[in-house]
Amino acid sequence: MNQLYQSPENTVIEVLQGQIKTGFTPMPEKTNDVGLEKHVPVITKTDSGIHVAVGSVPHPMEEAHFIQWIELITGKKQYRVWLSPGDKPEADFPHIEGAFTVRELCNIHGLWKVDVS
Ligand SMILES: [Fe+2]
Repeated sequence: MNQLYQSPENTVIEVLQGQIKTGFTPMPEKTNDVGLEKHVPVITKTDSGIHVAVGSVPHPMEEAHFIQWIELITGKKQYRVWLSPGDKPEADFPHIEGAFTVRELCNIHGLWKVDVS
């Protein structure tokens, strides 16, 4: 899976091939919610595809604190929906056969993911 890296200045990059040698550290992919705010993506399979909501209680979507994007990754495809403050913290993706991973990035609390088998 495409690894995300972060700089001390909070620049986030995605490496499609190779490795970053300096200036960036791998972003941890968190999988368990702690505290009142919820970040773990909630997956629902619908008639038209896959619906993702962040999280079990809707995440804030304010200027200072919001979900920047939600993505769905399979072994061969990657879909990413960019969000803005004021949007719902949700995204819809096509129907997927087999296993996939959903990740989302909160501008304050970092990268979160859930694997679906
Ligand atoms: Fe957050």
